[in-house]
Amino acid sequence: MTIDKKTDRAQFATKLGVIATTVGSAVGLGNIWRFPYEAGSNGGGAFMLCYIFFIFVIGVPVICAEFMMGRGTRSNILGAYRKLSPNGKWYIAGYMGILASVVILSFYSVVAGWTLEYFTQSLLGGMEMSSASEYHEEFSNFSTDGVRPVVWTIVFLVVNYVILARGVTKGIEKMSNILMPLLFLLLLIFCINSLTLDKASAGLAFLFHPDFSKITPGMLLSAMGQAFFSLSLGLGCMTTYASYFSDKTRLGRSAVITAGLDTLVAMLAGVIIFPAVFSFGMSPQAGPTLVFEVLPAIFHSLPGGMVWSSLFFFLLVLASLTSTISMSEISIAFMVEEKGMKRRTATHVNTLIAMVFGTLCALSFGPLADVRIFGMTFFNAFDYLSSNILLPLGGMIASVFVGWFVDRKFIREQMTDSGTIRFRALGLIVFCLRYIAPTGIALVFLNSIGVL
Ligand code: TRP
Repeated sequence: MTIDKKTDRAQFATKLGVIATTVGSAVGLGNIWRFPYEAGSNGGGAFMLCYIFFIFVIGVPVICAEFMMGRGTRSNILGAYRKLSPNGKWYIAGYMGILASVVILSFYSVVAGWTLEYFTQSLLGGMEMSSASEYHEEFSNFSTDGVRPVVWTIVFLVVNYVILARGVTKGIEKMSNILMPLLFLLLLIFCINSLTLDKASAGLAFLFHPDFSKITPGMLLSAMGQAFFSLSLGLGCMTTYASYFSDKTRLGRSAVITAGLDTLVAMLAGVIIFPAVFSFGMSPQAGPTLVFEVLPAIFHSLPGGMVWSSLFFFLLVLASLTSTISMSEISIAFMVEEKGMKRRTATHVNTLIAMVFGTLCALSFGPLADVRIFGMTFFNAFDYLSSNILLPLGGMIASVFVGWFVDRKFIREQMTDSGTIRFRALGLIVFCLRYIAPTGIALVFLNSIGVL
């Protein structure tokens, strides 16, 4: 990022910088941890199909809406709503996004903490076990422990804090620009390995052969929530990042590239996990713990397993950091620009809140497992509330706002870089924002509470 002299705001220096950072935000635990477990719990192929539908039919237009709001106003999410509608009440949606971003950061950091534990254990040789069931036991011992998961959550949040407060995000971005292709390469290698496992075809059938009887209201809601979560969409993350784009960034193309690469990584993760799940005799329905039980068993079966394991978990921590930086940036940009706080203070506030909520989430697998909100543990409730409700709701508000209330001229200017490029899909994007996205999201909501 460089500082723009006219506006005194940061700006991404290069085209690659824009793509790498938005993809860096999108690709993370959402693809490698959350997608496989959601797909596994929701029937596999049918989930995958609905997920891809939501990504391209609702996700891409909503990314465009968030991009337009951010680059057109050069503001945080609250400022963007306020600038585009000075007398309206739309900005309340901005507050909702800021709240959701801190909630997501909390439970996300717990999973990033698990990743840190697995990274260090792989390095120290504590992951050498003999069977898949031992890995299962190992993970349940670790996650129900009252101390270790909390410590790792806090360690992760401290690392996130240091990067943000020191303003060294540039360093992390550069590093991840180099290392993310390496993560991609590793995923490809693991895919090939998984395809050679003896029950690979059962795993692939599970993921790619949709069983339409599995399409239920709850599953549709989960697939939609997963699409929003994976694209970092619905709470102003893409708005905040787009406020740092240059005037020449092609918004439509960036949206499609981000969605395409993000989906590709999720699919690779699925192709790695499910053949292994079936070959090692595990259950695809294990929930949030699935990937942490299956991956170590895969690494164990490879020659030089612990080297693969350390490298992979290290890269996953980095991928998580580029996502948590983007989440944190939503509330930090808000506190700095709207509340006049110092960046360092804003970063403190963001981190402390996440530490408190994160601790509750980390303990909810063990000592606090019996504390329930709507029948769910803290971790599951926070995840469900933010991913399945707040994100799609935020996306719905953004699409109605841009589709119906924002000046058409503004939309055209943003999508064509002030008339310097042609953007043929303009009419289609506006149509999706006006009709398809809001009604689609509303239908899934109504359906899931049993109204339809
Ligand atoms: N998309 C990221 C992932 O898949 C997580 C993420 C980053 C996110 N920023 C977000 C999710 C904003 C929701 C909202 O890991």
